[in-house]
Amino acid sequence: MNVLGIETSCDETAAAVVRDGRHVLSNVVYSQTALHGPYGGVVPEIASRCHVEALPGVVDEALRRPGLTWHDIEAVAVTQGPGLASSLLVGLSAAKGLALRLGCPLVAVHHVEAHLFSVFLDEDALSLAEACPFVALVVSGGHTCLIRVEKLGRYTLVGQTLDDAAGEAFDKGANLLGLGYPGGPAIDRASSGGDRDFVRFPRGRQKKANSRYVPSGMDPDLCFSFSGLKTALRYYLRDHPPADDGEIASLAAAYQEAIVDALIERCERAVADGQGLALAGGVALNRRLRERISDLARSKGLRLMLAEPCYCADNAAMVAGLAGAGQGLRGREAMRADADPNLPFARRVHP
Ligand code: KG4
Ligand code: ZN
Repeated sequence: MNVLGIETSCDETAAAVVRDGRHVLSNVVYSQTALHGPYGGVVPEIASRCHVEALPGVVDEALRRPGLTWHDIEAVAVTQGPGLASSLLVGLSAAKGLALRLGCPLVAVHHVEAHLFSVFLDEDALSLAEACPFVALVVSGGHTCLIRVEKLGRYTLVGQTLDDAAGEAFDKGANLLGLGYPGGPAIDRASSGGDRDFVRFPRGRQKKANSRYVPSGMDPDLCFSFSGLKTALRYYLRDHPPADDGEIASLAAAYQEAIVDALIERCERAVADGQGLALAGGVALNRRLRERISDLARSKGLRLMLAEPCYCADNAAMVAGLAGAGQGLRGREAMRADADPNLPFARRVHP
């Protein structure tokens, strides 16, 4: 079955065609980063206007590259949430219109579940049957989630961030260091050659006293907190302005190490020896995180599933793939679904 996927939850306008939930026939992403760069972050009004302008061309390209026509499309899948309300609305409205016009089913999926599914895209990836059960770390600009996956559609959210997401910590840290936007790739690049032990920034461990902030059902030891890290960097820079680019590289490396340490420590706690561990989301592009999680997998004998770099940041292949694998709201329920900026992951746990 050929599924056309559409993803417009934030500032990437994306469309893709995936066959049978796994074979990616096309994966087109139009990144709006250059438009938002001067503002130091995503401006929702600009993002939604740009989605309206770019989406028709991006969808056309997703069909043109593998030489498909509209007749070859058997379902349309789209991200329902979470994300920016006005951005989600553009993709959802377009997908509803296309599904009606083509007379094919509409599937509405959850963005975090789509990120999680990205580790199964392409022929070389493990199959779902081989992979389950496993623990997934989904790390992006808006989410930091540790999820136990029994099988597709049966999840337990065991930990999440209590404040900033990991990607947000990268973006805010890069801003303080004057490295520009988006911050993740900037810190990743700037940290090369830096000394990770230059300063020891806090790792955001949950104190027992703070466990009242932990959502029920989650383990305080598997939750994250990154807002103190950003404050620590701010005060450090105030008291010790960096003397040269070498010091900025070391501060970037030390800051990155604090984020990566926090992520790896929770993964190590969450996963038992010999189990599977998956890494997905925009922050999964981080070279140091990929290195450290590979080391962890080697030392604990884990089956590691790293999302391919082309499926880490927001894309529509993960949306079409997840729908092709049988997940998401369908039919009339999907047609009636509203864009939901806060769509809870829990809804997928107990549908
Ligand atoms: O998954 P994504 O494209 O969008 C969301 O769903 O949020 O993730 C974007 C986030 C941004 O915060 C960006 O700074 C971060 O992923 N990111 C990185 C790297 N590349 C992108 N963070 C660390 N290292 C990178 N190389
Ligand atoms: Zn995302």
